[in-house]
Amino acid sequence: MKKFNIADGIYMLTLNVDDILFEGIWEIANGVTINSYIVQGEKTAIIDGVIGWDGIPETLYSNLKEIEVDPKSIDYLIINHMEPDHSGWISNFRKIKDDFTIVCTDKAAKTVSSFYGEDKILVVKEGDTLDLGNGKVLSFHPVPNVHWPDTMYTYEKGTKTLFSCDMFGAFGRMGNHCFDDELTPEEIDFFEAEGIRYYSNVMATFTPSIRKAIGKAKTLDINIIAPGHGPVYRKNPHKIIDDYSRFARYADGAGKNEVTILWGSMYGMTAKAVDYAEDILKREGIKYNKLQMPLESESEMVATVFKSAGVIIAAPTYEYKLFPPIATAINELGRKKITGKAAFRFGSYGWSGGAEKELKEIIDRNNMRWDFIESVEFEGAPKEEDLKRVEVGVLELINKIRDRVVE
Ligand SMILES: Cc1cc2nc3c(=O)[nH]c(=O)nc-3n(C[C@H](O)[C@H](O)[C@H](O)COP(=O)(O)O)c2cc1C
Ligand SMILES: [Fe+2]
Ligand SMILES: [Fe+2]
Repeated sequence: MKKFNIADGIYMLTLNVDDILFEGIWEIANGVTINSYIVQGEKTAIIDGVIGWDGIPETLYSNLKEIEVDPKSIDYLIINHMEPDHSGWISNFRKIKDDFTIVCTDKAAKTVSSFYGEDKILVVKEGDTLDLGNGKVLSFHPVPNVHWPDTMYTYEKGTKTLFSCDMFGAFGRMGNHCFDDELTPEEIDFFEAEGIRYYSNVMATFTPSIRKAIGKAKTLDINIIAPGHGPVYRKNPHKIIDDYSRFARYADGAGKNEVTILWGSMYGMTAKAVDYAEDILKREGIKYNKLQMPLESESEMVATVFKSAGVIIAAPTYEYKLFPPIATAINELGRKKITGKAAFRFGSYGWSGGAEKELKEIIDRNNMRWDFIESVEFEGAPKEEDLKRVEVGVLELINKIRDRVVE
């Protein structure tokens, strides 16, 4: 665990977590940090979780001691969001100190009781404040359905710090510094990519609520954004707000100037056309990503399609339906409400076909509203005229993405 002083009387404790499936699903290639914050006035509050998944009271105790916080002096646990990556330590904290007040929204209060059986709760609503003394005043601002219905922002008025929890968060493990102005250019790119991975894997389903939360953040006078995952923004807190506004657009069909080829092939027939499509993209100077399913992780697949302005789906027919790993991938993108992408599909079949029908069903069922160019299907290996049709489709896709590019 690392400790940072992020403002006068405010500390961050952060832990890199690897070797987990985030939410029990996502194989996060570059880890994640769990950040928590300690605000010291005359009284002391902890905001969000302290030590990750399996908080050991002794570790917590020694970490608090190093920043000269007596655990017994902690009066308030502020729960911005009840998901156990932030709240899972409450019961362990109880082993150190028995007398504290949990501060949360009404929706979180219900979950606090059902998850942990806790009952000493102060329910707060929009604009309520908590004066910790010594100039530290917290205010609370619910941002419902920023991941869960219970979520809120906590804002410290003296230092103008926004504790945003999942909002403005990013995956990615942290080095020995935590502030945006300390990041190297490579680390800035790394956290942008990990922000996209986080948004697409965890937050994309809630894009309309995220837009409202962006609006609420803009009504606050912010010097520092201190999220529950990823770096702290003090040099330019508006950068992460702008990034999140851009990510929200990616969820609605915009993207970077790149095409993702999401493909699968049993015996190489569809793969021949994939190679051909790749040559066209190269020739036209279009950046592209190739994801062969099911070899890629779901996390990588969702993040890569999410950030791309155009998608090529290349998959054959399998048992009268779409090649299953691709059907699974499209379904997952639908569940994440990744809508409006410009797309083109081609693929091989043996006798009946059926892939196309299932693709349409998945797109419709999930209300994805993807903008498809006419698909190309071919029997067995692609012939010269099939490849010509693939070329036409790829060129049409390149045209279609032009007015969707948001870098
Ligand atoms: C397990 C399996 C199931 C298949 N089911 C169908 C089918 O229901 N209808 C069809 O037209 N072709 C079906 N095919 C044939 C393939 O779609 C065809 O061989 C195609 O060329 C495979 O392309 P690929 O090598 O890119 O996977 C099936 C092939 C396999 C191996
Ligand atoms: Fe969450
Ligand atoms: Fe979280």
